[in-house]
Amino acid sequence: MPSIVPRVPGLCYGGDYNPEQWPESVWREDVALMREARVNLVTVGVFGWAWLEPEEQRYEFGRLDRILDLLHDGGIRVDLATATASPPPWFSTAYPLSLPVDADGRRLRHGSRQAICASSPDYLAAALRLVEQLATRYRDHPALAMWHVNNEYGCHNARCYCDTSAAAFRTWLQRRYGDLDGLNDAWTTSFWSQRYTAWEQVLPPLPTPATGNPTQALDFRRFSSDAQLAMFVAERDLLHALSPGVPVTTNLMAGLHTDQDYWNWAREMTGPDLLISNDHYVLGEDDIPPAAQIAYAADLTRSLSGGSPWLLMEHSPSAVNWQRRNLAKPGGRMILDSLGHVARGSDGAMFFQWRASRGGSEKWHSAMVPHAGTDSSVWRDVVALGTGLAALAEIDGSTVTPTVAILLDYASCWAQEGESQPSVDMDAFAEVRRWHHALWRAGIVADFARPEADLSAYRLVVVPSLYLIGDAGAANLGAYAAEGGHVLVGAYSGIVDECDRVRLGGYPGALRDLLGVRVEEFFPLAAGRSVALAGGSPLGAYGLVWAEFGRATTATVVTTFADGPTAGSPALTVNTVGAGGRAWYLGTRLAPDPLVSLLSTVAASAGAEPVLPDRPDGVEAVRRTRPDGSAYLFVLNHSDVDATVRAAGTDLLTGAVWTDSGVVSAGGAVVLREAR
Ligand code: GAL
Repeated sequence: MPSIVPRVPGLCYGGDYNPEQWPESVWREDVALMREARVNLVTVGVFGWAWLEPEEQRYEFGRLDRILDLLHDGGIRVDLATATASPPPWFSTAYPLSLPVDADGRRLRHGSRQAICASSPDYLAAALRLVEQLATRYRDHPALAMWHVNNEYGCHNARCYCDTSAAAFRTWLQRRYGDLDGLNDAWTTSFWSQRYTAWEQVLPPLPTPATGNPTQALDFRRFSSDAQLAMFVAERDLLHALSPGVPVTTNLMAGLHTDQDYWNWAREMTGPDLLISNDHYVLGEDDIPPAAQIAYAADLTRSLSGGSPWLLMEHSPSAVNWQRRNLAKPGGRMILDSLGHVARGSDGAMFFQWRASRGGSEKWHSAMVPHAGTDSSVWRDVVALGTGLAALAEIDGSTVTPTVAILLDYASCWAQEGESQPSVDMDAFAEVRRWHHALWRAGIVADFARPEADLSAYRLVVVPSLYLIGDAGAANLGAYAAEGGHVLVGAYSGIVDECDRVRLGGYPGALRDLLGVRVEEFFPLAAGRSVALAGGSPLGAYGLVWAEFGRATTATVVTTFADGPTAGSPALTVNTVGAGGRAWYLGTRLAPDPLVSLLSTVAASAGAEPVLPDRPDGVEAVRRTRPDGSAYLFVLNHSDVDATVRAAGTDLLTGAVWTDSGVVSAGGAVVLREAR
């Protein structure tokens, strides 16, 4: 199988390289240092538009020619950016309507980046002109390994509320609903006299005196994600036409940003001459520890890639600059972070950025070459990581194949984030993260899947929070269980249809029969309160955030609520379905430790095992395999004590042979080639 980037055999290593920030005299040193660190791929010119096109349609490619030649002479391949992420000031001055407008009607200005309305025809035309120039000039350049379209679509401009966007929104709605009757029905405009009688009355969800129409808000989020995606597709198609055979990607932000429906993006980013790439930055002050944050992003990206290898396009060598407190990584941590992504399917580790900027708003962001230069701990780690990744070359193309899937649906989370919900504490994306973290703590590697996906490869499908589900998704989950699959569904799932209309007859609506439970009424808890669960509960003593009043119809009750208005109602049930399938339902939320126990118990009963059943605390284990039987066990020790681990094989990083166990040093990693 060819490498994910065929012109870069083995694993990719490098980062964003912005030579336009430096005099040419620095470039030679850059290339020499890249060679020293065994860098083999750099992303050139992500924000280079003003450098390449200093005036409208006057292109200056001399400097880009020279840097690509220099990189080529140094044996370094290039992920060439289309440079369309940050239009220069001349552009927005000439085309002011291309600037985005926020929900309060303020038009944002240039002076930063991504000052773009995703529906602007002027922006698209200018961007495609630049792409055409770049593609025709560089498609045969020997350094070119892949195309990097734009940058982190929607990072700062996910939704635009200008008149151009409003018109594009109407066109999108016409395609979705056909006519105004369809729209009025879908949006329940019979409520509060909102009936539309002409398309020009239909607006983005602008500020209103009282709560707005929830389906309007939801559709605007769907539309806005599609509008961003359309910009990518336009550049992608032009690159494929002008530069056939060269892979194209754009860097997603799976695991951090939630404004794009990445399942839809994945459809447009997988296939011939395409690859999925992702950026990830650890949140220094978060309830979920860094290693589990990395696992979440990596598992999600691998799932977007359909299980195939993907590429970590950006992460940080040490601190970032955009959090309130930007925590630096202690020596060695960067290597462990990178391997965390590689363990879960990335065929490389790329950074933002190569050389730390002297000025500009990211001057306090770490880089592979820090302000201190090469006499620094960061640089020594950069060199060590380059050596390590070179030693791992043979894992290239191997895959991770979990037996557990977590259902994630963007539109469902968006709908649940809307106004006037039963409880502000019923967050959706955060609950998905908590369940993933609990599985991570249980040592279980999981994929993500959308509700309509083929689930047959999994022994267990968990559904942390799926408020909105379409008929197809509900039928799919039901069929999966009927064929013997195990399902665990969290509270407030299956409640509304795709138009955010309640499924009547008792909650959890679409999943009522599957779960064998009928809920009459929700009883969300007051802030900070908990609800007692019946004695000896396997869930621990308390439920959090949510309780509900209902009964089991066909399910067996495992635990009930023990106090308050829902006392006696089921809190945890299990229903037997079809040929040995089981459908568990949790009608409350759990603190972290009981959630780990519940997921471990349910996974064990489904036959979904941890990768290493007897891991010491703080040790993460993930296996990559290949159809030919090769297997690579990544063991990452996130604790601050050395860990003895039972496993056998040859450590690709050091050559050490483990016959039946070995020691992974505190903060260290081994990658064992296991015997076939
Ligand atoms: C990413 C972005 C990079 C850089 C980085 C800083 O979101 O793609 O250009 O800004 O963040 O962490």
